[in-house]
Amino acid sequence: MSFIAKIIGTGAYLPERVLTNRDLEQMVETSNEWIVTRTGIEERRIARADEYPSTMGVEAAKRALADANIAPEQVDLILVATLTPDYIFPSTACLIQHAIGAKRAAAFDLQAACSGYLYALSMAKAFVETGAYCNVLVIASEKLSSITNYKDRSTCVLFGDGAAACVISAQGEGLAIEAIQLGADGEQANLLMMPAGGSRNPPSVETLAQELHFIKMAGNEVFKHAVRRMESACKDCLDRIGLVEEDVSWLIPHQANLRIIDAIANRFKHLPEERIFKTVQKYGNTSASSVGIALDELLKKARLKAGENILLTAFGGGFTWGAAVLRSVGERYA
Ligand code: UT7
Repeated sequence: MSFIAKIIGTGAYLPERVLTNRDLEQMVETSNEWIVTRTGIEERRIARADEYPSTMGVEAAKRALADANIAPEQVDLILVATLTPDYIFPSTACLIQHAIGAKRAAAFDLQAACSGYLYALSMAKAFVETGAYCNVLVIASEKLSSITNYKDRSTCVLFGDGAAACVISAQGEGLAIEAIQLGADGEQANLLMMPAGGSRNPPSVETLAQELHFIKMAGNEVFKHAVRRMESACKDCLDRIGLVEEDVSWLIPHQANLRIIDAIANRFKHLPEERIFKTVQKYGNTSASSVGIALDELLKKARLKAGENILLTAFGGGFTWGAAVLRSVGERYA
């Protein structure tokens, strides 16, 4: 028996609190003008002290399950992509499994930085299409504000918090996951990282004094790699299934910087500007959650017809990157 993995429901959760560029002007030496022209970001959401990747993930998961019309007890596996887990262990996936009452589900976290949503989708597709599981709940949830140094203007203006979820199933209608292309290059690991907190540099008075528990990024270098890798991942992914640019209805790139999105858009000459979906202005870079939040928003806004292709792409620390093609199938799309 053959199975086709489909996204049959999506959800997202953004914290209420908004941190604007004007707020940041009061915190570090920056300006609304610099942030908007260099990044396109106008505001981002920041989780409350008592909101965590698990609690935000629970909200996004509940919305995705409701959208998919799937009960928590029907979930076979929960995959959580995050680089800001509640704890190093137990996994955030286990906390969410308990909170939503998905009693039958196995649960684990995976870490692929900003590419986490695509890495998780790829695993879900494999589990579903091999027949191992029927319903997989994928969640990406990040509290980047917990590892952002609000004294470092080169990073603190970029990041925001939020969560996204989707249900991948062998049954029902939705977006078929046609192809996924993933990649990694560990040689560039030090260009984007959090140096301490793991077992190599456990938390200590010294690591705290040296501010090693925050995101460190060589922004300029990362920028160049991000454009190159996302472009080639998109083209390789389309090639794999014999599609060309003209077959793409929507492009959802990782929402890190409007200039990166524009640079990728310039390489897709046939895709009209309005078909490149952007949320970076409102939410900043939410790492693993970024593509998932944008996908949920696109699906709630756009009326897809059957047979439309959505191209997703992401890039992040590791380095990691990926692209995926989703195709709308079934009567749900008129
Ligand atoms: O999600 C994972 C992937 N992450 C990314 O894709 C992020 C990739 N990188 C970027 O988005 C951009 O490189 C940044 C937005 C981080 C930086 O933009 P940039 O155009 O590459 O600026 P830069 O780092 O080359 O800095 C230019 C100048 C510097 O001043 P000097 O040395 O020229 O005097 C910085 O000190 O801008 C200064 N600067 C700022 N000025 C005002 C850096 N941050 C700020 C700031 N406000 N917030």
